[in-house]
Amino acid sequence: MSDVTLTNPGLGTYRLKEEVAYQAVSTALELGYRTIDTAQMYDNEAAVGKAIADSPVSRDEVFVTTKVWVDQLSRDTFRRSVEQSLARLNMAQVDLLLIHWPAPEGDVPMADYLGELKAAQDDGLTRHIGVSNFTIAQIDEALKILGPGSLLTNQVEIHPYLPNRKLVEHCQQRDILVTGYMPLAVGRVNDDPVLNAIAENKGVKPAQVALAWIKQRGIITIPSSTRREHLQSNLAAMDLELTVSESSRIDTLGYDLRLANPSFAPEWDLD
Ligand SMILES: NC(=O)c1ccc[n+]([C@@H]2O[C@H](COP(=O)([O-])OP(=O)(O)OC[C@H]3O[C@@H](n4cnc5c(N)ncnc54)[C@H](OP(=O)(O)O)[C@@H]3O)[C@@H](O)[C@H]2O)c1
Repeated sequence: MSDVTLTNPGLGTYRLKEEVAYQAVSTALELGYRTIDTAQMYDNEAAVGKAIADSPVSRDEVFVTTKVWVDQLSRDTFRRSVEQSLARLNMAQVDLLLIHWPAPEGDVPMADYLGELKAAQDDGLTRHIGVSNFTIAQIDEALKILGPGSLLTNQVEIHPYLPNRKLVEHCQQRDILVTGYMPLAVGRVNDDPVLNAIAENKGVKPAQVALAWIKQRGIITIPSSTRREHLQSNLAAMDLELTVSESSRIDTLGYDLRLANPSFAPEWDLD
């Protein structure tokens, strides 16, 4: 059985469809990425699975995450949706299965969908389980239901304009890895004067500075890119070290720019 774990950085695949998703995953694996993030909602599980199958990298060396969408959380639909994900991915098992968002308005009890999540793990459909977009209160509720040590990660939005400090601390204190999504604030970091100044001084790119800042907080990051040079640069950013004073400057850039905020989002923790 594989013992591969979440590695930094993973490749995000939101918005990447069909051939574009296939190419991004293929190039990322070729460059050395070993963590790939998809979801039922991204409508690209088949292309992601095919890229992994066609790659010379063995399936055992790749950590694959998918996520159950909000309309599949009830006991009637959950398991079938996971089986359909596995069929699209053409895999017997994923490495990590996440609840993509807590149930909108609490319309499905958390105990129901976390029970289904745990059953999927117990039955071997996934090696690890976790959540995404869970608040501090929801993490506490989930741990009451599943017990300490049950959740590998909480995947939440994290970038220099949304450090999510309280939630990160809460998860890390409970041995829940934090995975930061939209780490480049969907491209906004590229034009940031502070990130550009730090980058210029170090002879690197502003996107790399943003990723290094996230990594130095002990967070897994999953930037998405369709371009080989960006994929390479994002990987190389993991070797970048920021000084305390550089990190402190980035700490001042913002705290509440939330880019993923659908109408059904929970009431967020404020930093
Ligand atoms: N759990 C959730 O609810 C949730 C929500 C949102 C996202 N996510 C996950 O997080 C992943 C990342 O988020 P995201 O894709 O929305 O945004 P992101 O990674 O912050 O930004 C992606 C954008 O940045 C550009 N980019 C990437 N590398 C770059 C570089 N080195 N230099 C300059 N520009 C660069 C990309 O363009 P190019 O293609 O041209 O490189 C793309 O336009 C998603 O793909 C998804 O897997 C999860």
